Amino acid sequence: MARICVIDDNELMRDSVCETLLAADYDAAGYEDATVALDDILGGGFDLVVTDLKMPRLDGVGLLSRLRESGCETAVILMTAFGTVQTAVEAMKLGAFDYLQKPFQGDELEIVVERALKHAHLLRANQAFRTGQADQARSRPMVAVGESMQAVLRQVERVAPNSATVLVTGESGTGKEMVARAIHAASPRAAAPMLAVNCAALSPALLESELFGHERGAFTGADRSRQGRFELADGGTLLLDEVGELDDRLQAKLLRVLQEREFERVGSSIARRVDVRVIATTNRPLGRWVQEGKFREDLFYRLSVLPIHIPPLRERREDVQPLAEHLLARIARREGRARLTLTPEARDLLLGYDWPGNVRELENLMERCSALADDDTIDAARVAGWLRRNAPAAEPTQSVSHAQALLGLGRNDFDAYDGALMAEMERRLIFAALKENGGHRARTAEALGIGLRTLGLKLKRYREQGLLEPVGGRDLVGAVSQ
Ligand SMILES: Nc1ncnc2c1ncn2[C@@H]1O[C@H](COP(=O)(O)OP(=O)(O)OP(=O)(O)O)[C@@H](O)[C@H]1O
Ligand SMILES: [Mg+2]
Repeated sequence: MARICVIDDNELMRDSVCETLLAADYDAAGYEDATVALDDILGGGFDLVVTDLKMPRLDGVGLLSRLRESGCETAVILMTAFGTVQTAVEAMKLGAFDYLQKPFQGDELEIVVERALKHAHLLRANQAFRTGQADQARSRPMVAVGESMQAVLRQVERVAPNSATVLVTGESGTGKEMVARAIHAASPRAAAPMLAVNCAALSPALLESELFGHERGAFTGADRSRQGRFELADGGTLLLDEVGELDDRLQAKLLRVLQEREFERVGSSIARRVDVRVIATTNRPLGRWVQEGKFREDLFYRLSVLPIHIPPLRERREDVQPLAEHLLARIARREGRARLTLTPEARDLLLGYDWPGNVRELENLMERCSALADDDTIDAARVAGWLRRNAPAAEPTQSVSHAQALLGLGRNDFDAYDGALMAEMERRLIFAALKENGGHRARTAEALGIGLRTLGLKLKRYREQGLLEPVGGRDLVGAVSQ
């Protein structure tokens, strides 16, 4: 459970924020004095800080700079009153994650908190790699029961000791990143950082500066020089995710680093040398792309000095059940609850399914089934409601029948296969109604013809699944006011 430190000298405000957070299943502790809170935050007691801006002894901005001076990266959200927003904006530049202007509503608080915690989680994962302490590959063991994944594991062991480039191929969701991390963790570079760049996520110009860094004034907006990932990963490993998406120019630049270990920052003519092991992944048929002239042949051969192919899940069905059980156990540990089991029929459904989204799809399915389960078992109906295709007919899930009721349609108007679609329709309907009613839960529930409690439960689930949307309006039930 995420631990949140709430600091405000106003008792009423402090208590209402704590209550909202506790009701949303966070662990919240209130502090009146930031100097007292500071020690506990530095002691590593919290995942997130929500603090008032104006306080007598140490104010929010002071706290923030003390934390950062001490090298503490814990995310900070500032609460500001009207008139101090400008200060909050300044604080953002000092590294505050976000600010909330008082009076704000419970839902607003929840959304900002959730976003900050997600961000904090990513940051921690990155730091863990930097310090080499917590090692994801070790804490997240790979399931490899069938012979084909056993062979992949043997390849990981074989390529780990040296520094040659590895190309990991496989359909989306097969575990390419996991294999890349396992290679780094088993390599002599394990104590050094492993950084990742997704080549599909950025425009070519941004990607170039992300990979190689830039000098001050290299382009509009480059107000200071910046190290790229190659420099930051020096001595460690760089994961180039979706390397097939690089354009011609970046392919050439990458080839040069791989061959000569040398590159220039954008806007600089000084060649820099680095010692970085590159692991690239792709779900594209790069070999064919080379023949079609879409990818440089010399780069392809450079990248695939040591190729590792991960077969799709449908070609290693013996891994499906162990993976499902492993994932359910992990969810149970994370949520601190009893482990869910699959009924034999549910298991058969999983075994007969084709898994177009591979392990990631199985993971999402187990998350959804767990989030919605109200007892200890997952049955076939629940599984079928979420499978994308070729699942046998099953009873509609609760969400489907609920959406039917909401939309005033009959049972047969729906195809049970479309459970996921229906759940999404229901979610949109709920948020449309919330917006229409200015975020007022009671009015929304009435408009939808459902109970207030049902609505509350649904919103709670959306929050757990990261599916909340911001809702405007002021007079929300349970609003946090000053
Ligand atoms: N063998 C495995 N054992 C346990 N978990 C696995 C295994 N393979 C994949 N996973 C889990 O499945 C999810 C998807 O894996 P990963 O992100 O490595 O796939 P990917 O091939 O990089 O996907 P994409 O192509 O979408 O980027 C991750 O959460 C990962 O932890
Ligand atoms: Mg990936």
